[in-house]
Amino acid sequence: MSRIVNQKNKLFDEATKESVLLLQGLPTSKGRYLKIHGQQYLDFATAGYLGLDCDDEFTQMVILAVKSFGLGRCASPMYVVPEYYEIIGKQISGITGLPGILLFNSNSMANSSAICYGLPTNCQFFTDEYCHRSLVEALKLHRNRMQRYPHMDIAFLKNALEKNTSGSVPVIVTDGVFSMSGSKALVNELYEIIQQRNGYLIIDDAHGFAVEGMHGEGVLNQLKYPELKNLIYIGSLTKALSGFGGFIACSKEIVEKIKINSPQYGFSCSIPLLYAAVSAHACKLIGSTKWRRKINDLEQNWKILNEGLLKVGRSLMAPFSPIAVLKASDEKEIRRLCLALKDRKIAFNVVGFPAVPKRDYRIRLCLSASHTESDMTYLTETLIKALT
Ligand SMILES: Cc1ncc(COP(=O)(O)O)c(C=O)c1O
Repeated sequence: MSRIVNQKNKLFDEATKESVLLLQGLPTSKGRYLKIHGQQYLDFATAGYLGLDCDDEFTQMVILAVKSFGLGRCASPMYVVPEYYEIIGKQISGITGLPGILLFNSNSMANSSAICYGLPTNCQFFTDEYCHRSLVEALKLHRNRMQRYPHMDIAFLKNALEKNTSGSVPVIVTDGVFSMSGSKALVNELYEIIQQRNGYLIIDDAHGFAVEGMHGEGVLNQLKYPELKNLIYIGSLTKALSGFGGFIACSKEIVEKIKINSPQYGFSCSIPLLYAAVSAHACKLIGSTKWRRKINDLEQNWKILNEGLLKVGRSLMAPFSPIAVLKASDEKEIRRLCLALKDRKIAFNVVGFPAVPKRDYRIRLCLSASHTESDMTYLTETLIKALT
């Protein structure tokens, strides 16, 4: 028995030593770096699109929040709704123009709650074939009929909707900014065609919220309707906002339905107070001129990369978005790209089946306003060298 305790203590001591060393090893310079297996990587793998996490003022606010709330106090919102949740709710409502807001500990949980508990019971789903996996899994839970339509093919979708004579309520489900290509859904067209059929539109805009739009309203900026009905908008506090969690924005009626029925809402801890305070501050900042201007820096970074690729006859898969995706021509090329990035200590995501179709290989890079021009040049040169 005491041998086991001694062994445990030894492991604990080693782990503590290790974590202290990790902290000491953090880069002192500003910028986007990740330490992986003891090596420092330039980070194009994690989201932080606006660069809030690299900003001095924001960091000071985080320190203050840690001092005030500690690290992780949280509970189910069924038992306690701290004031900060209400503050974020009001802020997101102001940004999106939607009156009902619910917070979740992740975007995926918000997706499954919206799909399983925010809709009528007899639905027929129409989903873009490249919807995020968390949406697809939520649709499986709902067990109503689901038809996939080819990526952003509005004509196909209209035709499929015409054929839906089952009497069930049509629901279109889409990403806002698609996570595996960076393309933006044609949200206004989708809203128009679903309204004509008294159906619902669900948009998962994990990557568009706080980036797109004058106020950070994401792909909702495309909508030309003054009043939005039967629309469920889902966003992330983890990506552009550098916080943690997700939310649903919709009508107050839909919110009530989800609140009462969803176990993901009522029986799961919500966002820790620390992060609620940080996200409330981030939501306040993103509408300001300083942070709206950061979108120009982000777009400039996207341009450096895309223009570099154009010089060698290649380009990113979609127009400007914080997700920059380069499609490899074959398996050999994706290997070359991965090796080159790894050699030059650049952290990135490689995407393959089932996130994208079989034999489709992609390099996914999360761009940030906090990447410098030299970061972008370094990345671009690395990719070009591997491609030529
Ligand atoms: C479109 C989309 N939705 C949902 C998620 C999952 O978000 P979370 O990690 O908050 O569950 C992601 C993850 O990146 C995503 O890209």
